[in-house]
Formats: sequence, structure tokens, C-alpha cells
Amino acid sequence: MAELLEVKNIRKAFGGRVAVDGVSFAVERGTVLGFLGPNGAGKTTTMRIIAGYLLPDAGSVSVLGTDAVAAPVAVQRQIGYLPENTPLYGEMTVEEFLDFIGEVRGFHGRDKRRRIAEIVEQCFLEPVRHQTIDTLSKGYRQRTCFAQAIFHDPPVLLLDEPTEGLDPNQKQVVRDMIRRMGQQKIILLSTHILEEVEAVCSRAIIISRGRIVADSTPDELRRRSIAYNAATVKLGIPAAQAEAELRQLPALAEFRILDRDHGTCTVYLRPGDGRPLAPEIHALACEKKWPLMDVHTDPGDLSEVFRRITVTEDTRSTARAAAP
Ligand SMILES: Nc1ncnc2c1ncn2[C@@H]1O[C@H](COP(=O)(O)OP(=O)(O)OP(=O)(O)O)[C@@H](O)[C@H]1O
Ligand SMILES: [Mg+2]
Repeated sequence: MAELLEVKNIRKAFGGRVAVDGVSFAVERGTVLGFLGPNGAGKTTTMRIIAGYLLPDAGSVSVLGTDAVAAPVAVQRQIGYLPENTPLYGEMTVEEFLDFIGEVRGFHGRDKRRRIAEIVEQCFLEPVRHQTIDTLSKGYRQRTCFAQAIFHDPPVLLLDEPTEGLDPNQKQVVRDMIRRMGQQKIILLSTHILEEVEAVCSRAIIISRGRIVADSTPDELRRRSIAYNAATVKLGIPAAQAEAELRQLPALAEFRILDRDHGTCTVYLRPGDGRPLAPEIHALACEKKWPLMDVHTDPGDLSEVFRRITVTEDTRSTARAAAP
């Protein structure tokens, strides 16, 4: 119980416009939870509520057993928050800023200096240590803000688009860090980069119009893809013969000839039920003595699932609103 971050039925409206509409979930330690959703879906608002920067209109948040509304200060000690728009003190140098954060987080003297040195190394801030924040490039600003979020090594991290603006090398570094820290902590991160979700998240929540529309593992979500387990097959037989036989496979949703050339063909087959087709194709090729030159199985596509789930939800809402 105390190892959980629990969000129960939170709601938040701004001037009559509902931003978060009854969001509930619980996350245990050792989880990196990806928070996905279209622009304006309510991700940042939910994170700000958990971080204690915004009060919900209804619902509750409990962080490792402590109620966020009743004890905001105690909860903020347990949380590191990387906000969406890195608000930093522009006139300070990176080192002065981290020194300030250290003081705020209750570090002093040698402890504080040691922690600053660790953080500077961990977040690759050495080259800009003495530079004022206003003059930093976007990526270094982001990393300085990330440093601020992890300074006190909190058990819960809320990271709102943590790799936004980073170059590919630094994206990788930050993802590795998140994955490593995620083994011990509860990490909630929002992102629009679906490959990031597959690379670092053990769980993914898709939010659309303030509501959770999917909550699963990235793998399981990818398997909901329409093209999951579809096969592209190259055979050493004429296309017409391949078509006549392969169309007989049960529950086939789609069959297409992609290419034909002097007694060989490449065909596309999509199962209607997501089952793997490769074993059936292998068995058939073996039985008929067809030269099987290549089989590629589609691993599914998270972005297609994302588009379908969120568009469907938006369309439904629009349809509901338009209904008499
Ligand atoms: N302080 C505010 N005042 C008024 N409306 C707000 C405020 N903060 C957020 N909103 C509205 O709430 C809705 C949800 O916004 P939110 O920032 O949570 O979305 P998001 O999922 O983080 O989107 P993005 O992917 O663009 O970051 C939007 O319609 C937004 O305009
Ligand atoms: Mg946001």
C-alpha cells in the first residue's frame, strides 16, 4: 500500500472546460509509466496535480501512503518534478542554481557539494557548470532542469517530456538514466515519442480528452495493431498459384500481391485475429514443396494503435456532443 502512487478519480476543469475527467490509476515501485496522449489531453494537468502544484476539483492523490492534499510538503519531499516548460532562474549559473536547489532540499556543506558534483557528472553538465542559465542551449537547460528534479534522489519522479529538445545522444543518455532509476523508483513520464515508450516504459497509459483510454504494457498495446503478425512472403512460385492456395488460410482479413516476377512473387497476408501466420505458411510451403525465399512478420505499430484509440475516442466524443 505505502509503496504506491495512487491517483483516484481526479477531475479538473478550467473555466468550465474539463481538462482531467475522472483519472484513476495506481503505480508501484519499479515502474516506468509512460503517459501518452494528444496535445491538450490532460497529461501535464494530471502531473501538476500529483506534484501538488494544482489542486484537483475532485478526487485524491496519495504518494507512498501520504495524502497529497492533506500533506503537500511531505509529499513534495518524495517527488522530483521536471515540468513541461523548464522554469529556471536565468541569471544564476548552473552551479549556483544547483547550490540553491540543494539548500531548498535541505543539503548543506560537504553533503551538498558532493551531491552537486554527482549530479553535474550524471547530467553531463560539466561544460556549462559556470555558464548562466539564460545563455544555455535548449538541451542544456533541459538537463539542468532534470538535475533539479533528481537532486534529492526522490522515490517518485514526474517527468513531463523529459527528452524534449535533446540531441539523439543525450536522448539516449537520459533514457538509460530513466530506465536505471526506474528499477527502484516510481517514474511517470509523458512523451510524444512512441519509440521512447517502447524503449523505457514498463507500462503505458493513453489519455484522451481527460480520460484514460488504455492502460497496459507497450508490448500488449503494440499487439493491438491491425497489422500485428501480418506476413510479407516471397515465394518461388507464380503469383496466381500462391494466391489460390494462401487465400484458403482461415480467418484471413487481407491478401495482396505486392510483386511478381518470372515465377516468383511477394505477397502480403494479414490475419483477422492477430495470430502468427508464419508457421502456417512454413507448413504449407513445406507440404507443397514451394521455395520459401523470405518471410517477414509485422511486429505491430504502437503509433497506429495510438492514433486509432485516440481518434476513436475524439470521434465518439464529437458524435456524442452532436447527438440531439
Ligand atoms: N492553467 C490553465 N488554464 C486554462 N486552461 C488550461 C490550463 N492548463 C491547462 N489547460 C487546458 O487543459 C487542457 C489539458 O492541458 P494539458 O496541458 O494538461 O495537456 P497535455 O496533455 O499536457 O498536452 P500537451 O501534449 O500539448 O503537452 C487543455 O485544453 C489546456 O488548454
Ligand atoms: Mg503537456
